[in-house]
Amino acid sequence: MLQKRIIDIETEAKQALTIIKTLPQLEEWEVTYLGRKSALNEILKNLKNLTTEEKRIVGPLGNAVKQRLFQSLATAREAFMEQSIDWDAQAIDVTAPGVFCRDGHLHPITRLTYEIEDIFSSLGFSLADGPEVESEWYNFDALNVPADHPARDMQDTFWLASSESKQKTRNKKQERYLLRTQTSAVQVRYMETHKPPFRIIIPGRIFRNEATDVSHEHTFHQFECLMVDEPGKVSVATFKYIAETFFSSFFGKKVNVRLRPSFFPFTEPSFEFDISCVLCGASGCPVCKQSGWLEIGGAGMVHQKVFEAAGYKRGQYQGFAWGFGLTRLAMMKYKITDIRLLMSGDLRFIRQF
Ligand code: DAH
Repeated sequence: MLQKRIIDIETEAKQALTIIKTLPQLEEWEVTYLGRKSALNEILKNLKNLTTEEKRIVGPLGNAVKQRLFQSLATAREAFMEQSIDWDAQAIDVTAPGVFCRDGHLHPITRLTYEIEDIFSSLGFSLADGPEVESEWYNFDALNVPADHPARDMQDTFWLASSESKQKTRNKKQERYLLRTQTSAVQVRYMETHKPPFRIIIPGRIFRNEATDVSHEHTFHQFECLMVDEPGKVSVATFKYIAETFFSSFFGKKVNVRLRPSFFPFTEPSFEFDISCVLCGASGCPVCKQSGWLEIGGAGMVHQKVFEAAGYKRGQYQGFAWGFGLTRLAMMKYKITDIRLLMSGDLRFIRQF
C-alpha cells in the first residue's frame, strides 16, 4: 500500500519536472516533492509507526526515491543554469587589445631602507623599532635633553594636543606626547629591555615642526645605529670602521669617513661626520662645494647619563651611536633636488623609480 504510494509519488514528481520552465518553478517543485511537508517526507517521518516488516521495505524504498528525486533536481537545475548564461556575451575575443596594468613598486625610501638593512645585517646588526608618537621622556629627557636645555631648540617639535591632561596624571616622568623628532628616541626604549652586548639599527620616520622648502620637510626619515658592549670593546675607532664599511658597501666604492668635533647632549665626545664625496671621488665638485666631503650625520660615544636613563650602571658599558638622514642619502643617491617630492605622494614623481 505505502509502497505503491511512494512509487506513485516518484512518477508524479518526475512528470511534473518535465513541464517546468523556470527556476522559480523548479524551486516550487522542490518544496512540493522534497520539502519538509512533502508527502514523501511525511511517510519517512512516520516510519516508526510501522511494523518491522513494513519498515524493512518502505524505509529503503522511500530513501532511494528521495535520492533519485534529488538527483533529478540537480540535473534540472544545472540545465537551467546553463540556459541562463549568455554564451555569446561570455565569449573571449582573443584579438581584443589587452588592458594596460601598471606594476606597483616600493617607494624609493623603502627600497633604500631595505638596502641599508641588508648591509647592516651582514655586519651582525639587528633591527629595532619604536613608536612615531613618542613620550617626551624617550625623545628628550632620557637622552639628556631636559626641558630647560638649549639643545631642545635644535629640534622644533610637534606636541600632541592631549599633552596637558596626561601630564597631570603621570608626574613621574612628566609624560607629554609628541611626534618623535629623532630615531634616537628608540635608543633608551631598546636598552630598557636588552642587555649589552648588542648592535642595532633603527630606521624610521621622524617629524619636525618647521617651515618647508627644497631642503626642509616636516616629515622625513632617519637612520640610527647603536652598538654597546663592555668598556674597551667599542670605541670611536669601531664607529669609524663600521661607518666606512657601510658607506663603501652602500655606494659600491671605497668611501672615507671624517669626524669633526661637535655637540649632541646624548653623546660624549660628539662628532659630525662626513664621507668623501662619492660623485667626484673627493677631488671637488659642485655637490660637495669643492670640499671633497659630504656632511652626513651625527655620532658619538653614548653619554653615561643615557645609559643611566635606561637603567644601566654608570661606567658599566660603553658604546657608540650615530644617526643620519636617510632622506638626505636618498636625495644624493637619486639626485633629487627637492626634499618635498619624497613625501608628496605625487605619482608622477614616484613612478620614476
Ligand atoms: N638625533 C640626531 C639628530 O636628529 C642625530 C644624531 C646625532 C644621532 C648623534 C646620534 C648621534 O645617534 O650620536 O640630529
